[in-house]
Amino acid sequence: MHIDVVTIFPEFFTAPLSVSILARAQQEGLLVVEAHNLRDFTDDKHHVVDDYPYGGGPGMVMKAPPFIDAVRHLQERAPEGTPVIFFTPQGQPLTQTKVQQLSGRPHLILLCGHYEGVDERVRQAVVTEEISLGDYVLTGGEPAAIVLIDAVARLLPGVLGNDNSLESESFSRGLLEHPHYTRPAAVGAMTVPEVLLSGHHEQIRRWRRQQSLRRTMQRRPDLLSAAQLTEEDQQLLAEINQQLNQHTPATTKVVTDA
Ligand code: ADE
Repeated sequence: MHIDVVTIFPEFFTAPLSVSILARAQQEGLLVVEAHNLRDFTDDKHHVVDDYPYGGGPGMVMKAPPFIDAVRHLQERAPEGTPVIFFTPQGQPLTQTKVQQLSGRPHLILLCGHYEGVDERVRQAVVTEEISLGDYVLTGGEPAAIVLIDAVARLLPGVLGNDNSLESESFSRGLLEHPHYTRPAAVGAMTVPEVLLSGHHEQIRRWRRQQSLRRTMQRRPDLLSAAQLTEEDQQLLAEINQQLNQHTPATTKVVTDA
């Protein structure tokens, strides 16, 4: 996959791209990331990328022509229909489903804005989608871009060694992951659940699925409502509810036979 990033801070991307899985993916030719300086697409002596807002008000607005020229230039060597993504809190929230869709593309163009905003005509002229990292405000699009690059890159074939970990992980099947343990078997008084030491694969699979359902129910009930549950899942959830009811203090129990 080829990812072009347009930014006023190309150096922002140096460290995150030079370590760990992203570094290896690039060394192995599975991922190419190019950070382009927006100032290279200005035509004035001082390479100005922002200006005062029409209509007045505080802050500066990023000018449209450098972004539009940068995208037109990059589109010349990108396949037709390449997504041009602009990062903004006004965009669609980034989800694993979106990450999966984007990881199937051969090429992405990412635009990072700053200051109070970007001239609306950038959106009109070249942006195909707007993505938000969440309901909070970042200093610019760069942290959002690196998150997207990371999430997309790890789904590219060959980037992660173990495809099974992709299969079972949080969100890939709509639920949160079960807890993990490794040696030592006891950390102080905290021991590893018995079943994981049993060697009984079917019981372990069932326990993990139940833990996954339990975590999702307790932490992200919204995900549980959206998940496609099997008959076994319903059974496991019924067991969880039974366990929870047993542990509810008697004073808060609903009395049905009074
Ligand atoms: N730029 C500033 N805040 C942002 C956010 N929450 N998501 C994406 N881009 C941003």
